Amino acid sequence: MTDWRRAGLVPVVYDVGVEHERIGTIGGRLLWGANLKRFYRGIEELRTLADGGNVLDVPCGGGIAFRGLPKEGPYRYVALDLSPVMVGRARANAARHGKRDIVFLRGDVTTLPHPAGAFDLCLTYFGLHCFPDPAAALAEMARVLRPGGRLRGTSIVRGGGLRQDAFISLFRMSGAFGTVGTAGDLSSWLSAAGFDDVGVDRDGAVAFFSARRTSAPSGTA
Ligand SMILES: C[S@@+](CC[C@H](N)C(=O)[O-])C[C@H]1O[C@@H](n2cnc3c(N)ncnc32)[C@H](O)[C@@H]1O
Repeated sequence: MTDWRRAGLVPVVYDVGVEHERIGTIGGRLLWGANLKRFYRGIEELRTLADGGNVLDVPCGGGIAFRGLPKEGPYRYVALDLSPVMVGRARANAARHGKRDIVFLRGDVTTLPHPAGAFDLCLTYFGLHCFPDPAAALAEMARVLRPGGRLRGTSIVRGGGLRQDAFISLFRMSGAFGTVGTAGDLSSWLSAAGFDDVGVDRDGAVAFFSARRTSAPSGTA
């Protein structure tokens, strides 16, 4: 069973693949029937999105999302992951690329160590399907976003095809995946968590999504 706190090989294999766009794109097509070019282009947009803002990247994995970030602020960027191995890889990755203004934290997405409304933007790439309770994770992301703050992410979802659903079952059996919903489930979880302007677009078994933290508190703010 994969325990993300201790896992070494599974996340590292994933991280090496996703780090190299060509391998990631081929893997995305073969495993999930999806075109991941959109994921890589979205990351590049961070150059302007992060400008002057407070950004949370959870789970950061090996640090793929901050690839598009300018080397220095103005921004405050927090990269958080449960796995010490992945936090270490992300830190080394940032150092290699001269990204100095990033704070690295080891933590759990369902108990973020930040006050309500601390962030303007939350990035959550390929993490939700690894969590046992993705709805609770989204509610916690909503809590730490300011009203009007934006959420952007990707997740593996069910309903992309028989082959993809079979892969999801295998990853679930290995413990690498947690609760995997459909694109419809994801929309419902986002709305229930306190997001509006919800957009969920499925390509194969990959959902690309974005949402805005509602101005009205979801009960936790
Ligand atoms: C498939 S990787 C995705 C990482 C990164 N966002 C990317 O796209 O490369 C999933 C990550 O979720 C992390 N993770 C699993 N459960 C977590 C939790 N409860 N809280 C925070 N991170 C978690 C794992 O350690 C792993 O690095």
